[in-house]
Amino acid sequence: MRGFSSDLRRSGKTIAFVPTMGFLHPGHLSLMEKGKSLADHVVVSIFINPTQFGPNEDLSAYPKDETRDLEMTRKAGVDAVFLPDANQIYPEGFQTVVSLKFLPGHLCGLSRPGHFDGVATVVTKLLGIVRPHKAIFGEKDYQQLAIIRQMVKDLEMGIDIVGAPIVREADGLAMSSRNMYLTSSQRQSATCLYQALLASRQLVQDGETSAAAITRSAAARITMVPETTIDYITICDPQTLDDVPVVNGPVLMAMAVKVGKTRLIDNLMLTP
Ligand code: PAF
Repeated sequence: MRGFSSDLRRSGKTIAFVPTMGFLHPGHLSLMEKGKSLADHVVVSIFINPTQFGPNEDLSAYPKDETRDLEMTRKAGVDAVFLPDANQIYPEGFQTVVSLKFLPGHLCGLSRPGHFDGVATVVTKLLGIVRPHKAIFGEKDYQQLAIIRQMVKDLEMGIDIVGAPIVREADGLAMSSRNMYLTSSQRQSATCLYQALLASRQLVQDGETSAAAITRSAAARITMVPETTIDYITICDPQTLDDVPVVNGPVLMAMAVKVGKTRLIDNLMLTP
């Protein structure tokens, strides 16, 4: 991978990088398309990173289909797919952790301790191997994108981090590899995240400014839907992710909801 990247760089070509954990879907394809529009070559990595899964999370059950993924990347016109195994990324003696002080202390970081250390560490390593000019991340994982932007800035990595909009199913469910865990009734319930976000946006457009009132109303909607358990619903500052009590400028509304055993996340910007 390093050789491939060095050769391209030496010949003056630019590289866009799309890191993934595989089981690709149209959301990932949109990141690859964005990469193609921004650089001469696109590299995709597929690596299910063990260090970003907690002890009670779904690492061993995480969906995998390498043949299908490679076919999709070939059709998408990707130039190279990097498929390391865990021993190559974390060889014996590996001991570095990349950890941010504040951004992980919000949203998903509260219920997934250590998750963003795992993400920041593996992304640092992947960026070091692939050495792209640009790296593309989906806005569905808004906190991840904010953390990677901050890390790349803090550590002067000199890579342009690009966010790409959430890709949704026809009924609004944000695309995710984890959607395949949902039974058909849970799949119907799962639309409640986006419905609640849209209803919240409407409340803000109708003049509601109390973040507590908006999140209460979203929670009430979601609680009515079968098999849902709310992890968090937050209205926060889009840069710092600190809670915002009064909506008097653009804010991020973000949520994590378990549908059955599957934890889904979604978010939307609300602008008064
Ligand atoms: O978003 C993901 O798929 C993962 O968190 C990432 C960025 C590939 C790191 O493992």
